[in-house]
Amino acid sequence: MNRRDFMKTTVVAGATAALARPGEAKTAAPSDRLAIGVIGCGARAHEHLQNLVEMPGVEVVAVCDAYKGRAERAKSRTGGRATIVQDYHEILAMPGVDAVFIVTPDHWHKTMAVEALAAKKDIYLEKPMSYSIEDGLGILDAVKRSDRIVQIGSQSVSGPDMIKARELVNAGKIGQVVEVRAAYNRNSAGGAWLYPIPPDASPQTVNWDQFLGPAPKRPFDLNRYYQWRLYWDYSGGISTDLLVHQTDIVNFMLDKTVPRSCMASGGTYRWTDKTDDRDVPDTFSAIYEYGNNFQINYSCYFGNDHYGYGEPVLAVADGARQPNPLPAELEQKIAEQNQLMASLIEQNDSLSKELARLNKEIGDMRQRGAFAATEEKR
Ligand SMILES: NC(=O)c1ccc[n+]([C@@H]2O[C@H](COP(=O)([O-])OP(=O)(O)OC[C@H]3O[C@@H](n4cnc5c(N)ncnc54)[C@H](O)[C@@H]3O)[C@@H](O)[C@H]2O)c1
Repeated sequence: MNRRDFMKTTVVAGATAALARPGEAKTAAPSDRLAIGVIGCGARAHEHLQNLVEMPGVEVVAVCDAYKGRAERAKSRTGGRATIVQDYHEILAMPGVDAVFIVTPDHWHKTMAVEALAAKKDIYLEKPMSYSIEDGLGILDAVKRSDRIVQIGSQSVSGPDMIKARELVNAGKIGQVVEVRAAYNRNSAGGAWLYPIPPDASPQTVNWDQFLGPAPKRPFDLNRYYQWRLYWDYSGGISTDLLVHQTDIVNFMLDKTVPRSCMASGGTYRWTDKTDDRDVPDTFSAIYEYGNNFQINYSCYFGNDHYGYGEPVLAVADGARQPNPLPAELEQKIAEQNQLMASLIEQNDSLSKELARLNKEIGDMRQRGAFAATEEKR
């Protein structure tokens, strides 16, 4: 497996499971194996680690996390083979590391990606690629200047279902697509990002300054550390955490890139408890206007999941192809003409009946006259 193939397969969770041959990574010669360093070993990284340790020709050689407990759990997931380092720069300095997985909170993505490229590492960088537009441009710039492979963790667009959907749309099977009504609705504390805080979390086990990095300085705060999605300092909230997956899917499926404009609105409507000091909205709606008669109509609410999750695609239906309605006076005139025609038909009908009656009377008279004449002759 070469590096390009590896980067392609890592993003397809199903595919990684199918490729899994436990133990093979251990037996590959060091020159054939791909050595990976994982930076940030939280919830998402553990999913990657599970796939990586099962992949042939791949070895996770180093892990790094600002919370001791997660670094240790990551090491144990590799069967104890990975080295724990205290600072991610140590991974970037390891000549034997081919690629790094950057799975830290969003505010770290740009700094770590740019430094990893400078250190000549290939990268799997979690979505959202960047915390801000400026950070994104900085990453793009660094990628253009480098010869490394960079893959962003928007894994949905690597799935067979999305590839099939894209094929069908491009083949014109559903006609002209005018709107996607994307939605993500949740109704739980976990869904609203109120993740539990480990009982052993403390200034002794958590490196607060390492977590903050390029974010504004603040006093030690475990809520911010473990629930970073709730705060603008580290996250863009619903837009960068959830919407980004769905707009990526739509862009990929419909061959779109960047919308022409966007309007959005939201607020904290559900998670208003005094203990919940979130900055980011729990309710958010946005309309992305792409030009060429296409828009994404997005909504997300964390207080009722009735409308669920999905990206329903709306194409022009037959009704929309009917001619436009006529002006009201013309419609009125046509209605009057129709009424006149109906009354003429009705009149015509009663005239025909009268004619038939007269014909019958003449016939009867003829018959009676003929009968009388015959009787006369007898
Ligand atoms: N593609 C997907 O479906 C998907 C799913 C979940 C999360 N993600 C993305 O993955 C990233 C991580 O999310 P998560 O849910 O795993 O968060 P998390 O809080 O569970 O994990 C982040 C980890 O990074 C560590 N960390 C922070 N700063 C660090 C530093 N300077 N050096 C080393 N470690 C540091 C933290 O201690 C924490 O363990 C986010 O960007 C998120 O958007 C993607």
